[in-house]
Amino acid sequence: MRRPFSARLPWPNPPNSLSLEAARLKAASVPLLNFVESNPTRVGLEREGESLLAALSTRASLDYSPNPRGLASSREALAAFLSERSGGGVGFPPEKLFFSASTSEAYGWLFKLLADPGDAVLVPKPGYPLFDFLTGLEAVEARSYRLSYAHPSGWRIDLDSLEEGLARGGVRAIVLINPNNPTGSYVGEEERRRILALASRYGAALIVDEVFLGFRVEAGTTASFLGEDAVLCFVLDGLSKLLGLPQMKLGWIAASGPADLLEEALGRLEIIADSYLSAGSPVMNALPGWLPLVPGFQTALNLRLGANLAALRAGLEGGDSPHRVLRCEGGWTALVEAPRLASEEELALGLLREKSLILHPGYYFDMEREAFFATSLILEPRLFREAVERYRGFFDALLA
Ligand SMILES: Cc1ncc(COP(=O)(O)O)c(C=O)c1O
Repeated sequence: MRRPFSARLPWPNPPNSLSLEAARLKAASVPLLNFVESNPTRVGLEREGESLLAALSTRASLDYSPNPRGLASSREALAAFLSERSGGGVGFPPEKLFFSASTSEAYGWLFKLLADPGDAVLVPKPGYPLFDFLTGLEAVEARSYRLSYAHPSGWRIDLDSLEEGLARGGVRAIVLINPNNPTGSYVGEEERRRILALASRYGAALIVDEVFLGFRVEAGTTASFLGEDAVLCFVLDGLSKLLGLPQMKLGWIAASGPADLLEEALGRLEIIADSYLSAGSPVMNALPGWLPLVPGFQTALNLRLGANLAALRAGLEGGDSPHRVLRCEGGWTALVEAPRLASEEELALGLLREKSLILHPGYYFDMEREAFFATSLILEPRLFREAVERYRGFFDALLA
């Protein structure tokens, strides 16, 4: 009998050998240290818990005033915040903002807006694995463009591979992650200029994910795509990273572009957003009270990111060390290159069994060669240093 399921994803999605092994060790009560913990509610960050919660319980949240873009007063507060963050000047218009439940959901809306089933969007490689799901669920092809690495200068977008992807046809949007996860690289000025020209030539929109924009680690100057009007452009952000509050479920799209195209896009996006009305009133009402907390949160977290990256470099680099910490301009992840004494998978299993250490191997992110691992810079610093020591110890023993 035909089974009534779509073929959008290659499901079922069986757990890989690393997660099976981690589950086995947990079941045997082995305490594991997660070197790639990315959940900001689990890394001992000091939060102003009471005032965060108080802002959620306003009487206004007993009222339901559906608006496809989300509550006007909250969008006004967000627009003011975004304008100030991008250096004042011309204010960002609240009517070009749309609230969703998350940035992931916002991607889905934008793929529906821009692409028909079978069309393609360009996504960065290495990049974060969620794209295979987000594009697959919309029956859209995720076509990758390369980022290449040179040490120590860092990552660059391979513009030839991006243009090749466009030239193959059917591309409706270029996804830029600024800075990218897990490479931590921002879109440089020259890259931006070239990509805008290519997007314009091939009639592709830009989707720019800026969830890590404010988390600068080793970057020089960085610039947002907010308000970019050379092409149709959608900048994504949300509370997940901006305030480390993924559980609150609020993301947003900030749209810009040439006037006639933008007007049409806003009208169509309104129909999509109206079909879901995803954002909840309590969190939208809380937002104006939470936004003033962003600078304090980011300053504190950036200090932690910087201290952890310094600990990683101190623990792994120097002398004739066979380890390398890749340049990390921003974001919550640092990539390390390990001596390739075995495959990434075997090394990751060894780290798990012998050092009780969880790491994500580079192949999770489609790195071009082995052996790389992703580490999370948001980890509590004492645990982070402990993780670096165990990691180093594992390789020292192998090399001895
Ligand atoms: C680059 C990037 N964008 C978006 C997200 C997801 O954000 P949200 O929780 O708003 O869906 C993540 C999550 O790790 C991410 O790494």
